Amino acid sequence: MGQVVPLPEREPSAEDRPVLVVDFGGQYSQLIARRVREARVYSELVSHRTPAQAIRARNPRALILSGGPASVYADEAPRLDEAVWELGIPTLGICYGMQLMALDLGGRVERTGASEFGRADLRSAGGALLEDTPEEQVVWMSHRDSVTAPPEDAQVTASSPSTPIAAFEAPERGLYGVQFHPEVVHTAHGQEVLKNFLYGVAEAPPTWTAAAVIEEQVERIRAQVGSERVLCALSGGVDSAVAALLVHKAIGDQLTCVFVDHGLLRKDEAAQVVETFQGHFNVPLVHVEAEDRFLGRLEGIDDPEEKRKRVGEEFIRVFEDEAKRLGRIRYLVQGTLYSDVIESGGTDGVAAMIKSHHNVGGLPEEVDFDLVEPLRLLFKDEVRRVGEELGLPERMVWRQPFPGPGLAIRIIGEVTRERLEILREADAILQEEVRRAGLYRDLWQSFAVLPAIRSVGVQGDERTYAYPIVIRAVTSEDAMTADWARLPYDLLETISSRIINEIPGVNRVALDISSKPPSTIEWE
Ligand code: XMP
Repeated sequence: MGQVVPLPEREPSAEDRPVLVVDFGGQYSQLIARRVREARVYSELVSHRTPAQAIRARNPRALILSGGPASVYADEAPRLDEAVWELGIPTLGICYGMQLMALDLGGRVERTGASEFGRADLRSAGGALLEDTPEEQVVWMSHRDSVTAPPEDAQVTASSPSTPIAAFEAPERGLYGVQFHPEVVHTAHGQEVLKNFLYGVAEAPPTWTAAAVIEEQVERIRAQVGSERVLCALSGGVDSAVAALLVHKAIGDQLTCVFVDHGLLRKDEAAQVVETFQGHFNVPLVHVEAEDRFLGRLEGIDDPEEKRKRVGEEFIRVFEDEAKRLGRIRYLVQGTLYSDVIESGGTDGVAAMIKSHHNVGGLPEEVDFDLVEPLRLLFKDEVRRVGEELGLPERMVWRQPFPGPGLAIRIIGEVTRERLEILREADAILQEEVRRAGLYRDLWQSFAVLPAIRSVGVQGDERTYAYPIVIRAVTSEDAMTADWARLPYDLLETISSRIINEIPGVNRVALDISSKPPSTIEWE
């Protein structure tokens, strides 16, 4: 009889032992989780109401208690299940989290009258968190209350001129606290402080990489869908592209992608989707060329909301028709991101964010499919890294956001074939020049808008009566607020003269210099 060789044990994945960021409603809670992940350690946000038992069940490597807007003495101040302190998990308290730690564990918190907002000079006195960072360094503070006595057995390891206890450590108890915010970029050595905590104190290995994410997701997808068929709607954007490629890697031809081409995309965009998925990755793809249907529905419509509604409805109709044609399919891929999960109340809605009102060009919320959501644990920058690792072309990985209704909401007035053609050409010139100037990735969005008005010009000996094109370029972190981008004059000049010279039907170029608020990024 042959020898029985045991199967190799599966390596524990980074997700099995997360760092849990306990959310006390601070504006930076999400950012802390992102910074931890940038250190290649998997982390998740959880509500401060999570019971100790549930926290223990996740077997976390460490806890990070976030900042919060409240005073620890306020009536409604968010608290932590006190049994958490007994779990023996290495814990870092940041700002409010630090104060709560002091309050619960034998220290003292007071309103000393010395608030700090913004830059502060920190002087360190050693300790594990500040190891290998300068003795004097700039940090970012934002607090009214201060810790005036650290928890029992804790050593004070840093101070600032107005905050004598700006950091403490009790290594035997696994407790660490900082009054400043290591997660914000204004704290010069913030990421090092976090790494010191993660690697040095919590001994968390930096194993959360794009390659690890892919491996983990591929396994999960296989386990979830078995031999069933899966459908995925491609939009041309990075999220649906990465989601589709992950699923394809997991289950190959059990996946069918449907690309509803509404004729409102930018120049060459549709061809690129087809070329990438069908040509390069060999993903089974149904390319629905539905321009006529969409333009038919948009005929005579100039109201922005009506345009959005019609494009959205038509999209769903076309997609459903195709899905029916493909026969019984059980699963649908959705590109839900971790930030969507959090924003829809994932951590108890403490850090309630304003949810974007846009959902046009997506699928209805109630669909007759089971969902596969391979991006559910990822932030946007992680999706991009996974996309790169999967070999998605640079243009798709780094594509700027593009609205579902596409160019329909960048033509102000009725959408006609002629206007679409003009706008597409103008936009292509703008994109090309912005890329050539090396600015594409620095801008949140850059695009052309065509208001359906005409103005007088003169070209050669002739007077013209033609459309203007508006250049819109903005910088932003999250589209909630945005600033108009200060594009170099030379670049603006090149864009303007190329658009006017190369596109018949345009005789004027204007620049939009409005920020959001009060304007929006798009014109409709
Ligand atoms: P506004 O114009 O409101 O846009 O400042 C904020 C962000 O949302 C994008 N946007 C949309 N995205 N469907 C989408 O998927 C839409 O209907 C839609 N409208 C606007 C816009 O491009 C910007 O990034």
